[in-house]
Amino acid sequence: MTATSDHRAFNEAALTTDQGIPVADTDNSLRAGARGPSLLEDFHLREKLMRFDHERIPERVVHARGAGAHGVFKIYEPLDEFTTADFLTDPDAETPVFVRFSTVQGSRGSTDTPRDVRGFATKFYTRQGNFDLVGNNMPVFFIQDGIKFPDLVHALKPEPHHEMPQAASAHDTFWDFVTLQPETMHHLIWLMSDRALPRSYRMMQGFGVHTFRLVNGHGRSTFVKFHWTPALGTHSLVFDEAQKISGKDPDFNRRDLWEAIEAGNFPSWELGVQFIPSEQAFAFDDIDLLDATKLIPEELVPVTPVGRLTLNRNPDNFFAETEQVAFSVGNVVPGIDFTDDPLLQARLFSYLDTQLTRLGGPNFAQLPINRPRVPVRNHQQDGFHQQRVPVGRANYSPNSLGTQDDGAGFTHHPELVDGPKERKRSVTFADHYSQATLFWNSMSAWEREHIVAAYRFELGKVTTMAIRVRMVEHLNRVDHDLAVAVAAGIGVEEPVKSVDNHGRASAALSQAPTAPGPV
Ligand code: HEM
Repeated sequence: MTATSDHRAFNEAALTTDQGIPVADTDNSLRAGARGPSLLEDFHLREKLMRFDHERIPERVVHARGAGAHGVFKIYEPLDEFTTADFLTDPDAETPVFVRFSTVQGSRGSTDTPRDVRGFATKFYTRQGNFDLVGNNMPVFFIQDGIKFPDLVHALKPEPHHEMPQAASAHDTFWDFVTLQPETMHHLIWLMSDRALPRSYRMMQGFGVHTFRLVNGHGRSTFVKFHWTPALGTHSLVFDEAQKISGKDPDFNRRDLWEAIEAGNFPSWELGVQFIPSEQAFAFDDIDLLDATKLIPEELVPVTPVGRLTLNRNPDNFFAETEQVAFSVGNVVPGIDFTDDPLLQARLFSYLDTQLTRLGGPNFAQLPINRPRVPVRNHQQDGFHQQRVPVGRANYSPNSLGTQDDGAGFTHHPELVDGPKERKRSVTFADHYSQATLFWNSMSAWEREHIVAAYRFELGKVTTMAIRVRMVEHLNRVDHDLAVAVAAGIGVEEPVKSVDNHGRASAALSQAPTAPGPV
């Protein structure tokens, strides 16, 4: 990439200090005599060490390890029927994007190939501002309500007293939590499958997970689920390979992405959408669109291909781009809107909030990688790391001393909301097992072998026998044969075949639900 004010080659000319003063000697500190003490007045020594001392910023609280790339997105056919979003309706628009893939549990320096969920986050720099699709490589999530997210993450991160284990799911606290939260059972079985060991980021699906909504020019809202499908197909490592690679090349996935793009083998994904008309919100038995632990089977709602994403350029600088990129599910453009999914609603707070700490204050949207490719005009001002120099005196609204035009912007879908204020979950969120069963039933014999081996391996590391027993009880509700196979490998007594094995949560294992509310 050509050098701009944001892109400077390290060694293009003689060194200067941060103040622009030419440096004569960067190898010898200023001393009183060749063997004497260093002098405080050596501004170059002090600045060089000060800058080094402050190179680190906090890593992301989750998804700390990642790899990113630039690219473009283009639609196949205009989607005016569903949305006013410019990048989804203009057939000529080539929207620049930045994508970051990540693991979830490990720290920034951890390995690429643990058994873990993978993040698949895309920033679309549209002509109406930035839209972020912050997804994962699995179509469902562990929990239904974002208020449980800190508990989930505390349980799956290394244990607080000795910060072990580094491996995502092989420990008591993780299995303790998930066995006490049966809503995790569907995502868990995906995590025990080969989907948790992607061979390459280029060969990985992506999902928006939540139901979002598109809104068209007439104000009509359509519920949607977003899907990314890799052109190279979806491929996984086997666990033994993944473990060996972890030791031999912890950069396995990021190296693969980097080298493919350097070689001109640009990876691409098709964006697909499941469209669900508002009137059909309650049309699916046992599936609430607001429950992020459920998917909508493609047999019920097919995935319509709508466009293509191609990654064609590696970042110039890992820190400036891949580390400083700030995604947020809250970044939507006109024509795309949220639903009342309680997991999504919590996320709307969390990303902006965490980035205030991670990126040092409120001006991180001005960082080159986060900057919208359209003019930004508002009365937000000041704060740490302000880069702009606003000109004029009318820094408030309304004003009659400057110009202002705030007519045709984003409008929230006027959803009708009515209900008592209460901390309760809907009855329509109560089924925690049937989609885990659906997943198990869709697996081939060798895929099932891998899943059983994964449960045995991970649960075999759990030292508290009561937790292993509890997990086998849950598996018995997913599938009796699965439970028997896992139990036999972890020293747990064979479970009795349950009468009600179709997947309903029992009163003992689920929390009291309430009546359904509006979608
Ligand atoms: C990253 C919170 C659920 C996908 C993060 C970060 C936080 C967070 C605080 C770090 C962001 C940063 O430092 O920039 C939450 C909360 C959730 C939740 C509170 C539930 C209430 C999910 C779900 C998905 C997801 C359901 C997938 C659909 C991601 C991805 C990243 C991320 C991909 C990494 C983004 C990047 O590459 O920078 N999340 N998350 N999260 N989250 Fe979530």
